[in-house]
Parts: sequence; structure tokens; C-alpha cells
Amino acid sequence: MNTKEWYADYINQAVNDIKYPVEPEGLYAPIAYTLASGGKRLRPMLLLAACEACGASADSAVNQALGIEMYHNFTLLHDDVMDRADVRRGRPTVHVKWDDSTAILSGDAMLTMAGQLVMKVVDDKILRPVMELFNTTAMEVYEGQQYDMDFEHRDDVTIDEYLNMIRLKTSVLLGAACKLGAIVAGADAATADSLYEYGTMLGLAFQLQDDYLDTFGDPAVFGKAIGGD
Ligand code: IPE
Ligand code: IPE
Ligand code: MG
Repeated sequence: MNTKEWYADYINQAVNDIKYPVEPEGLYAPIAYTLASGGKRLRPMLLLAACEACGASADSAVNQALGIEMYHNFTLLHDDVMDRADVRRGRPTVHVKWDDSTAILSGDAMLTMAGQLVMKVVDDKILRPVMELFNTTAMEVYEGQQYDMDFEHRDDVTIDEYLNMIRLKTSVLLGAACKLGAIVAGADAATADSLYEYGTMLGLAFQLQDDYLDTFGDPAVFGKAIGGD
């Protein structure tokens, strides 16, 4: 395994190497803008670290790492439309810099590109489990987003309901990132499931902190306006 900085550099390099068609510019420029705007690269980091922890090289899982980061960035484009958020990573969001339709359509394209990347596996034998995990996780994220929107109209949300909502909208993607790394490395099912559990627990803590910062954070450090969620 490597350091956090090594993974970040590795992922940023791989992200920079993604080639987008030139036209139509209105579709691809917002995608390049979003992917180039940084972010912590947490999910691909987890995926690559899990892969290496299970005995394979980071290179063998680079497409899945890029795919998960692309998927995550897709969710942010649509989430920022839903949350009417104007700033992300210290920059104007896509629906502000362009418009809502652009954020929706470029987001759709990112979702498809994410699937195309994730399915580029080293060994076709793992294609089915990889795609099943990716698709199941994607559906759970949408369920979580729906609960999140539903809860905006309620003042009696219980702690368990809140925890289930953040598990779905955020945690399972971190869990899936870890498990994908394990699957690509050919890890046994028990190891892959343990890594899924680890990522999911980390994701709960991560979203709890994000929600705390959404209320009490410093926008200059947080890179997002507070109170939006
Ligand atoms: C933002 O995720 C959405 C949440 C689940 C809180 P990150 O905080 O990982 O976003 P970036 O990619 O680092 O900007
Ligand atoms: C984002 O949730 C979760 C997804 C994009 C699925 P939030 O709305 O809490 O994330 P931020 O604070 O806008 O990044
Ligand atoms: Mg949001």
C-alpha cells in the first residue's frame, strides 16, 4: 500500500489522461470542468488501496477507480441541481456556470461513462460481480437521495431513518469502492465483504462529518456554501 498523497497523484494523473470527444462541447466541457476541479478522490483511493491490500497492483484497478470517481462526480452534478447549490470545490457548480439542462445531460453522460469504465476489467470472469455491485450501489444511492429529499418536508425524522438515508446516499459507495478493489484483486468473498463493511462504516462517519460541516463549517475551507443540505 502507498500513502494518501501517492494515491491522489496517481488518480489525478489518470483523470487528466481521460480523453473526451471535442464535440458537442456543451456536453463534454462540463464533464472535463468537473473532473478537473479536484476533490479529495476518496473513493478511488479506497478502491486502489483495497486492491493493493489484497495483493494486486493499483494499475489493475485503475479503470474501476476512474469509473467510481466518474460516478461520484455525476451524482454531484445532479445533487447540486437538487440542492440548488452554487459552489462546489470552491468553484461555481455546473448548473450555475452553464444551466440546469447542461448539468442534467452532462451528468447522464458521466453515469454512462462510469459504467463503461467500471466494466473494463482485467479478467472477464469478474465482470458480472463487478457490474452487479456497481448497479446495486447506484440504485441505493438514488434511494438515499430520495429519502434525503423526502426528509426535507418532515420534522420528525428519527436518528435511525437519518442513518439509513446517509448509508444509502453516501456510505454504500465507499463500501462498494473497497469491495471493487478486492474483487479486482481476486480476494475471497469474506475478505471482499469485510472491506465492504469497513468502507460503509467509514462512509457513515464521513457523511456525519459532512452534515456537521454543512451547518458549522467555514465555507472558505469547506468549498461549499453552508446550510444547503
Ligand atoms: C461529497 O463528497 C458528497 C458527499 C457524499 C458528502 P466528497 O466530500 O467526497 O466530495 P469531493 O469529491 O471530495 O469534492
Ligand atoms: C451528496 O449529499 C450525496 C450524493 C451526491 C449522493 P450532500 O448533498 O450531503 O453532499 P454535498 O454536501 O452537497 O457535497
Ligand atoms: Mg448537496
